[in-house]
Amino acid sequence: MTHAGAMVLFGITGDLAYKMLLPALYRLTADGVLDLPIVGVAKTDLDLAGLRARAREACGGADDAAFEKFAANLRLVAGDYADVATFDAVREEVKDAGFLVHYLAVPPSLFEPVARGLAGAGLNDDARLVVEKPFGHDLPSARALNAELLKYFDESNLRRVDHFLGKEPVEDLIVFRLGNMLLEPIWNRSHVRCVQITMAEDFDVKDRGAFYDANGTIRDVVQNHLLQLLAILAMDAPPSKDARAMLDEKWRVLRAVKDIRPADVVRGQYEGYLDTPGVRPESTTETFVAMRAHIDNWRWAGVPFLIRSGKGLPTTDLEVVAELRRPPVSLFDGPMAPNLVRFRIQPDAGVTFDLLAKEPGSNHTRMVPVSVDFTKVLGPMEAAYQRILADAVSGDPMRFVRFDLAEESWRIVQPVLDLPERPLPYAKGTWGPDEAARLAPGGWHEISTTFD
Ligand code: BG6
Repeated sequence: MTHAGAMVLFGITGDLAYKMLLPALYRLTADGVLDLPIVGVAKTDLDLAGLRARAREACGGADDAAFEKFAANLRLVAGDYADVATFDAVREEVKDAGFLVHYLAVPPSLFEPVARGLAGAGLNDDARLVVEKPFGHDLPSARALNAELLKYFDESNLRRVDHFLGKEPVEDLIVFRLGNMLLEPIWNRSHVRCVQITMAEDFDVKDRGAFYDANGTIRDVVQNHLLQLLAILAMDAPPSKDARAMLDEKWRVLRAVKDIRPADVVRGQYEGYLDTPGVRPESTTETFVAMRAHIDNWRWAGVPFLIRSGKGLPTTDLEVVAELRRPPVSLFDGPMAPNLVRFRIQPDAGVTFDLLAKEPGSNHTRMVPVSVDFTKVLGPMEAAYQRILADAVSGDPMRFVRFDLAEESWRIVQPVLDLPERPLPYAKGTWGPDEAARLAPGGWHEISTTFD
């Protein structure tokens, strides 16, 4: 792992840079974590002063002194990515910087041309390349893209971003699972009946019609974010804390996930989606998906892992619910709810155990939630992109997607990409088509939405 002496940020005038990367880079500078030249590259009319003004706007209420330090590190190369002169100008800007990190916040169709341009200017030898998502459109295209990038950068110098891996609450899952002896002994098919992962968004595709229509929910969030989450939830404990050990365990569990069959998927499309600018007439792209995954290994065989996600749902929440098996014999009156372990990931983060207590004055049981809100107890968390960018510079591969993991994730969803059937319609503000219920043995658990 080589710490970079400069960052070259392709797409510095784009949306992602404005909303996420510039504010995160500023914060890292203000916190004293990063202090290195950041060479922005973009096809733009802005000059350096204009870029700094844009960065100032992106960083909102930034502290003046800290912002000045950050702005002083910014450089700009304005030019076309197809033009050799652009890469020559980048080389000029970084000539004494040593090891470089090239961060590609550009559309995926530009990953290969930019990598080639960098190599043409000799900027690939002492450098790592970080690419944003999506990485490929399906299994063959992901492999083809990787093969192209490998012409210019070794796997050890390639980083594929999945910003979910930078989220602290996602790492909380690992700590909670593997730091507490309470959970690990029961975290298997003998005690867990099913696991449900819900990523709900109450907004629609907004102005991203063209992008979304070419992708759909499975590509947009399941293949990447939610299968990464599944891997973290279901993997075995790594033998050590180094990145390779962790990534190997994630790979091992993804390797055991069977290909998803069309019968294990319910796709939906919210009413009105077809009127969105950029969406094809008659589009069969899904804006909702519910699916059942099976992990064919000794720990999880027979335990369904259910995933559902969509736009235009009733709420914006990401929660994992593990339902435990009921006691073999009931000693109490009336029905007994199963114990649930709930991991909340966003918008707030924490854990809730739904346990049973005695209903006063009777021999019935009642479910009582036992919760901890991590932010209240542990304090605020770092933004995902701060951690991703800091790792891009330091070289730590832990929070990136190694290619064999991307490959397994594409393999898992490949049979259900681009299904020809029209997705089932659902009204915005509902939990998708009713048909999704058939995938969940005891129904989908309501998500907790808040700790209060
Ligand atoms: C992105 C998807 O990768 O993740 C979006 O393209 C989705 O459609 C977003 O809304 C969710 O990420 P976050 O961090 O805002 O929850």
